[in-house]
Formats: sequence, C-alpha cells, structure tokens
Amino acid sequence: MNKELNKTDTTLKYIIDLVAAGIIGDTRKVEMISLTIARSIRKSNPEVATSIQDLLVLNSSAGSSAVRSYGNIPIPTDNETHLEMARIIKPYPEGGVLPIFNEKVNDWINDILEERENLNTLLAFDITPSTNLLLIGLPGTGKTMLAHYIASRLNKNLVVMDLASSISNLMGKTGHNIKKVLNYAKETGSILLLDEFDAIAKKRDDQTDLGEIKRVVNVLLMELENWPISSMLIATSNHPELLDKAIWRRFDHIMEIPLPSSEEIIKLLEQNLIQFVSEDLKNISILKLIAELLNGKSASDICKFTNSVKRRIALKNEELIIASLNELESYSTDKKIRGKFCILAKEMLGKKITVRKLSEMTGLSSAGVQHHISKIK
Ligand SMILES: Nc1ncnc2c1ncn2[C@@H]1O[C@H](COP(=O)(O)OP(=O)(O)O)[C@@H](O)[C@H]1O
Ligand SMILES: [Mg+2]
Repeated sequence: MNKELNKTDTTLKYIIDLVAAGIIGDTRKVEMISLTIARSIRKSNPEVATSIQDLLVLNSSAGSSAVRSYGNIPIPTDNETHLEMARIIKPYPEGGVLPIFNEKVNDWINDILEERENLNTLLAFDITPSTNLLLIGLPGTGKTMLAHYIASRLNKNLVVMDLASSISNLMGKTGHNIKKVLNYAKETGSILLLDEFDAIAKKRDDQTDLGEIKRVVNVLLMELENWPISSMLIATSNHPELLDKAIWRRFDHIMEIPLPSSEEIIKLLEQNLIQFVSEDLKNISILKLIAELLNGKSASDICKFTNSVKRRIALKNEELIIASLNELESYSTDKKIRGKFCILAKEMLGKKITVRKLSEMTGLSSAGVQHHISKIK
C-alpha cells in the first residue's frame, strides 16, 4: 500500500514537470516525461499508459505536419531583413522518388523508415527512434534528394533552412535566427533539413566572428541531443572534415553516400534513357559501355549527361550512341573517348562486334578503329 502511494507521489511529481515543459513548449521534454509516466503506471493503469503512448505515436505519425494546419505558426523571418529563413516543402503524394543507391544505403534508409512505422512497438520497449541523421558525401551523390525522399515517405513537411539568410550580419543574431527555424520545425512536427551544414562551421575561418560561431555551435549541440521524436533533423555535408568534432558525435546516424558504382550508373542510365535503347543496341549492351566511360562521375553528373543526350536525340536527331559519344567528348577532359569506346567494346564483345560496326557507331574511319583496337593485347 505504502509502496503504491510512493509511486503515485512520484507520478504526481512528473506531472508538475510535464506542465512546466508544456508551458515553455519543449516538445522533446514533454515526450520524454510522458514516456516516463506511461512506464511508471503501465502495471497499475495499463489503459492510461497505452493512451499516453498512442498520443505520442499519433503526434509523430506520418502526415502529422502535412495534414494539420499550422496556419497560425508563421515561417520565421529575419527581424532586420524580413526575409523568410526557411522554405516549406510539402511531401509528394506517392512518397517521392527513391534515389539510386547501393544496397547498404538502401538498407539503412529502410531501417530508419521502419523505426517510424513501428514507433508503437519501440516505445512499448522504452526505445526512442533515431531523431537526427547526418548525410555526408561528395557533391551530387543525392544527399538533398534523399532528405526530400525521407520527408515524403514519412508524409511530413520538409523545412529547409536557408543558411544564407539565417547567417546574420548583426552580432549575436545568427544563433537567434537559427533557433527560430529549429523551433518552427519542432512545433510543426516537420522534418528539418540543414543542407550543406558545414557552411556554419566554415564561417569559423572568419576570425572576426568566433564568439558568434561558438554560440551557434552550442545551440546546435543542445538541439541535436534533444530533438523531439515527432520531428527529425537531417543535416548534409560535402565537407564533413570541416564539422566540429563535438557536433559529429551527437548524431544518431552518420551515413556516407558514395559515388555510384558501375552497377548503379547502369541503373541511372536505364532509368533515364531506356526509351532510346533499340533492340540491336540492347544486344551489345550499350549502356554498360557508356557506364564504363562515365566511371567516377557523380549521380548528378550522370543525370545531367542523360539530359543532354536526350536533348541531342530530340533536337539534332542523333542516335543514342552518337549523342552519348558527342556529349562525353564535350564533357570529358579525355579527348580519346571514341577510341576508348572501341577498345572497351572490343574487349567486352570480342568477335561479336566488327570494325565496320564500330566505325558506324563512333563515326571514326575503319583505319581509325583498327588503330585503336590494335592497342588491345
Ligand atoms: N543517387 C541518385 N539517384 C538518382 N538521382 C540522383 C542521385 N543523386 C543525385 N541525383 C540527381 O542529381 C540531382 C542533385 O543531387 P543532390 O541530391 O542535390 O546531391 P547532393 O545534395 O548530394 O549534392 C538530384 O536532384 C537528382 O536529379
Ligand atoms: Mg545537396
């Protein structure tokens, strides 16, 4: 009996904390205290515990930010310039386009989405889902695209902080501005994208403003630890080496997105060019050859390449292979693309491809083709 009373006492104390957190609008704290209360009363009052948990799941569930009206919460602006410091992007109705990644990255994305889909189960085991992710990798590997995809899959609005208009000229204002955007994302249960996150760290080179940068980094450190489960923070960086080590440690997950492998390059080409690959080109696996020539390029470069190829096909009436070779030549520093193509084709296909066919495909003379393939050992 006494033990039961003590428990009630503690729970009552939690309620005071809950009210205090609610008054200052600290979502994360409200969530954490609610979970503690649910845990402490699960045995004595299972229905109430379940109701609390259901409310948390509902608040974090897919669509909470997109469906609810947040018309009364204005997009934060800079006090001096009155410029909006964030863009709000609605989720795509069908969950958006999954970028092409390798299996490891795909599995990781699935794990993150699964945590959210099974939030109820996680909370019942007193486990909270990942609330902040850092995506690193070279430019054009699909980091920004992935953040859009995750927000769409969770059916939540994406809040994209515009660092250019948030970094204020006024001393002491940048930290304040950034906090306004962070609060907006939390209050609306949106996904916050801090794109090219290192822009903040990079400012550190600017010796005049060290104190201010320190303040900004401190704001971010605090926020990363206490990000609410009804939201998610995704940061991206092309220059992770510029990030503060302390910040680095606070992320739940750090995922490196690599350049596409040959296999992924072929997938990208297929996705973008398949309607132009005729049956006889399919037989000689033309995409594989083009993919070889594009080795080392980013996914974004490949998409740009296929767009230019499509333009050539449409406007100049070029064949896919000619358009690709012309485009590769204008785009590559390697001037011997056609020769390289002949060599690759011969190596991959042997007798199945003739000098005449190669000459047709590349526009080189037969003697030119011979010259190149004579280099094959
Ligand atoms: N992995 C990918 N799969 C498919 N398309 C991609 C991929 N990565 C980049 N792209 C294309 O390139 C564009 C720019 O990529 P982005 O996401 O901005 O790269 P990052 O943020 O890593 O610099 C995308 O909008 C998309 O069209
Ligand atoms: Mg980007």
